[in-house]
Amino acid sequence: MKPVLCNYYVTYRCNAACGFCDIWEQPSPMVTLDDARRNLDDLRRLGVRVIDFTGGEPLLHTGLHTLLRMAKERGFLTTVTTNGLLYPKRARELAGLIDLLHFSIDSSELAEHDASRGVRCFDKVMESIETALALGEQPDLLFTVTNDNAHRLAEVYERIAYPNRLILLINPLFEYNTLGAALSDETMRAMEALARKPYTYLNPAFLTLRRRGGNDPARPVCKAVSTCVVISPFDELVLPCYHLGLERLPIAGRLYDLWRSDAMAGHRAKEGRHDACRGCAVNCYFEPSFAVSPENRYFWRSLPSKMRYSWTKFVVQRLRAKLVGPRRALLPEFEPPEHVDVSGDGSSDLIELPVLDGRN
Ligand SMILES: C[S@@+](CC[C@H](N)C(=O)[O-])C[C@H]1O[C@@H](n2cnc3c(N)ncnc32)[C@H](O)[C@@H]1O
Ligand code: SF4
Ligand code: SF4
Repeated sequence: MKPVLCNYYVTYRCNAACGFCDIWEQPSPMVTLDDARRNLDDLRRLGVRVIDFTGGEPLLHTGLHTLLRMAKERGFLTTVTTNGLLYPKRARELAGLIDLLHFSIDSSELAEHDASRGVRCFDKVMESIETALALGEQPDLLFTVTNDNAHRLAEVYERIAYPNRLILLINPLFEYNTLGAALSDETMRAMEALARKPYTYLNPAFLTLRRRGGNDPARPVCKAVSTCVVISPFDELVLPCYHLGLERLPIAGRLYDLWRSDAMAGHRAKEGRHDACRGCAVNCYFEPSFAVSPENRYFWRSLPSKMRYSWTKFVVQRLRAKLVGPRRALLPEFEPPEHVDVSGDGSSDLIELPVLDGRN
């Protein structure tokens, strides 16, 4: 089976500190352009179609536009998700290089979003939307749904996403290490209700998987190793997936051979079968796992939502972009924040949070 996706971690560094993520806690270099060039050539030979330049915060990599250009020159579909802090500053050099651009947003309320991200950044997400639309880009909004913020989904849709005809990606929280929490039935129902509206995307198979207790090592549905190439900022293959990270194989210019090695065959044989794989529902790997498994129900459950997303993204939005071109964002008024309550419940002193950028 050919891998379909590469999760290319350009750095683990981040300028935010979200409660549901621990990537930002790790020290990390930035990937080098030379390593990336060689790896992108090999990824092409391996048959990969999509490169997700991720992190950490991918916009902290000052050469991100060069990485994206190298990927586009090799015919890859590119995707980047960002917390928006640096997008307004870097938007011009990134314009036209990202096929699927996503801005993370966790609430329609400024203070709640900033508390979730651990830094002041809601205003930057709004500015990112304005900047992207003015450049003719069609960013999606990526809402990571928890039991605490599910009640804000409809507001983000009605006040921010739909008025601008931007797709709202409904991303159920997943658990890993000691992070995240199981989603309640009520939260899952709120996601399903919103996903019936136009300009939304939810893979319902993600919820089916959760309701069935997640991945079962005895009958795994995870195909993380077969479908995804995970590359670390240290130029290593991370196996079987970033979130379990049992082994790191140095690449050093031999990705193609490494992918076809006995070591990899061993990892493929064990994908989804480790004890720690019990109950796993890490979206990043189940999206491609379901997409290549027509023999199981998750494939068929995913298919209509993927077709609807592709239609809106590649037909409707492209047509709109051609007809309308660059446009002004329609956003509600938000009070410019000077101080943010990081606790989110009013219990902490109002602390001015730093807005960090690549120099910090
Ligand atoms: C890992 S981040 C990397 C990109 C960038 N730093 C950002 O946050 O947009 C990619 C996406 O994963 C989401 N994410 C992080 N931890 C998650 C978790 N435990 N469950 C579900 N989504 C998560 C984030 O909200 C973000 O939208
Ligand atoms: S902004 Fe992204 S990488 Fe950074 S801590 Fe939050 S989810 Fe993790
Ligand atoms: S089941 Fe989860 S933890 Fe196990 S290999 Fe797949 S994605 Fe990784």
